[in-house]
Amino acid sequence: MKNIISVIFFILISIAAIAQRKSNAQKVDSVLILMTLEEKIGQLNQYNDDWKATGPVTIDNKKADQIRLGQVGSLLNTLGTERTRSWQNIAMQSRLKIPLLFGQDVVHGFKTTFPIPLAEAASWDLDAMQLSARIAATEASASGIHWTFAPMVDIARDPRWGRVMEGAGEDPYLGSKIAYARVKGFQGTQLGDVNAVMACAKHFAAYGAAIGGRDYNSVDMSDRLLWEVYLPPFKAALDAGAATFMNSFNDLNGVPATGNKILQRDILKGKWGFTGFVVSDWGSIGEMINHGNVKNDYEAAWSAITAGSDMDMESRCYKNNLAQLVKDKKITVSLIDDAVRRILLKKFELGLFDDPFRFCNAEREQREINNPEHAKVAREIAAKSIVLLKNTNSLLPLSKQLKTIAFIGPLVKALKQNKGFWDIEVPGVDSNFIVSQWEGLQNKVGANTQLLYAKGCDIEGDDQSGFDEALEVAKQSEVVILSIGERRDMSGEAKSRSNINIPGVQEELLKALLATGKPVVVLINSGRPLVFNYTADHAPAILYTWWLGSEAGNAIADVLFGDVNPSAKLPISFPVSVGQIPIYYSHFNTGRPATNDSSHNYNSSYNDLSIFPKYAFGFGLSYTSFVYSNLQLNKKKMKKNEQIEASVTITNTGKADGEDIVQLYIRDEVGSIARPVKELKDFRKIKLNAGETKTIRFIITKEKLSFYAPHSVNNQQLQWVAEPGDFELMIGASAEDIKLRARFELIK
Ligand code: BGC
Repeated sequence: MKNIISVIFFILISIAAIAQRKSNAQKVDSVLILMTLEEKIGQLNQYNDDWKATGPVTIDNKKADQIRLGQVGSLLNTLGTERTRSWQNIAMQSRLKIPLLFGQDVVHGFKTTFPIPLAEAASWDLDAMQLSARIAATEASASGIHWTFAPMVDIARDPRWGRVMEGAGEDPYLGSKIAYARVKGFQGTQLGDVNAVMACAKHFAAYGAAIGGRDYNSVDMSDRLLWEVYLPPFKAALDAGAATFMNSFNDLNGVPATGNKILQRDILKGKWGFTGFVVSDWGSIGEMINHGNVKNDYEAAWSAITAGSDMDMESRCYKNNLAQLVKDKKITVSLIDDAVRRILLKKFELGLFDDPFRFCNAEREQREINNPEHAKVAREIAAKSIVLLKNTNSLLPLSKQLKTIAFIGPLVKALKQNKGFWDIEVPGVDSNFIVSQWEGLQNKVGANTQLLYAKGCDIEGDDQSGFDEALEVAKQSEVVILSIGERRDMSGEAKSRSNINIPGVQEELLKALLATGKPVVVLINSGRPLVFNYTADHAPAILYTWWLGSEAGNAIADVLFGDVNPSAKLPISFPVSVGQIPIYYSHFNTGRPATNDSSHNYNSSYNDLSIFPKYAFGFGLSYTSFVYSNLQLNKKKMKKNEQIEASVTITNTGKADGEDIVQLYIRDEVGSIARPVKELKDFRKIKLNAGETKTIRFIITKEKLSFYAPHSVNNQQLQWVAEPGDFELMIGASAEDIKLRARFELIK
């Protein structure tokens, strides 16, 4: 008898072990087979929780009932372990107990706010960006979140578009590297670790090319541009393992991205083999009616599901129409099964079927969101994101021995402004944990330095009544620091602007302060490239500080006083005037190239404006200086299966230790399709002590020479090709400051 019991026991254990060994895909199938059509459709719905929204809100008092009936797969904007736990408890009352997914826009930090993504991109520091995403994920996951709607990897070449702040700028190479780093950061070692959140590469695709920089606007674009510029960061996010993608509000050549089969089924899930799921953007399925591509919700649901949108964020088109579409035989259940499988797979990978509450540990939540290490990292990354645009006569760094400093401007004492757009207010937590610029300076200077303050003026409006006080304070000081810029909500979603000058009378205030003869250091706070020609031409020193997050004040003080030597470089061109937009360095040469002079001799220029940016892509100064020399190629001809090694020597010729971002550009001199005047193909961020010299090496492979072209005259299908011929290799300190050049040939 004892033996029989042991045998039965052994068999049971073995079955359990086999079940355990089932792959996640098998586990998904074992759940799918139990599901009714209604429950399957339920998994494809994502609802907003009640507190925050970035789109039209559907007030739905029956949410809890629907969750209990298994009609909801995911919620967004639910914050904190307490609230996520309470919704998850309701999901556990459903027939199949399928856990909910909690999604959130964790864009640049959770409780600890890091610099806005465009600012971080200026650091060109991939490890730092990965780390900031890692910390954001650690805090978010500890607070009940499974999924961030980030990174936004949209290339943006139009600073009127408010969402430039959310991406990595204008360049596909830099953008791809950053997309990869951010996905790795959010997802950590692997999904399933309790501190990993799913990343979501968005907005698929070409959302950043909205005509006129107007948010949500149409996009009209060639295949070449799409593949060479707008898709690479998405491919990089996918290569990094991004679990999800979000489609976009725009239409692409007349077809809304949400109902775009070529983008989602053919490219993403077909050619690229994406196994995760696609969520729509907020209400974007229903918005296809406004686009004029479908007549009603029923057709919208058909279009989106057929095109490959798996989850419906907030439009309720799926909830209300998919069952009818199946009944009418307009779609098959297998189409729905495919979407459900993709979503369930992620729920299994996150470990939610094993423990739906594993992200709801209140004790861990407290520990992680109050981790002092996170603030330290935020400070370092913020300092790395500040771009030194001008430094006449080495006005910066400031001496710590100064007796009196005037700190003037509408942003000096601001707290929340420093967070920029897309911040998160964690319930029950002091989200105003922000070091103001004033506090940062106070922390920095010693007892012998007196700090004087005046607001001077508001960000907007024409009131100059505060000027007198500001001038009074300035006159009593050795140095003036003026902090001006946008309001934090002037850049962001739906924050497109036709006028991107520094608002209000802030530049007037600068003019008045300069008239005192005191040296003025200007801090420009913004989510986008602004136009500030007066400041650029007259202020002796300028730091572009963007929005730097929780540790803004300390980071700014670190740079002002030289404890951190600025090393950031612009990830996007800064125009002289909105009339130049779109402006980007990797333009074509045209048949009548414009020159730097003002002759405008029937060439491709403006009659009233330079075509060159105020500050070029890749530009940024340091408190030290770097000299580039000795560019060597190990050979001058390469076959497609070979590579060339380029080496260049960099010397820190100044007195301070510092970091430089050395940029490698390539120009394909003759292409069957014209090639840009230069394209970034590699870069290195290197640290050099004063006087130190280092040699760095770049490897040129066929991939760096390829572009999207018909691969033969007879085959008009576009694909990546490297055409034999001559190439110019350029080493630059920015896209306009090319220091060294060499040429080589790609041979058959
Ligand atoms: C934005 C998305 C965001 C979503 C949820 C939309 O309006 O376009 O980027 O993830 O709202 O907040």
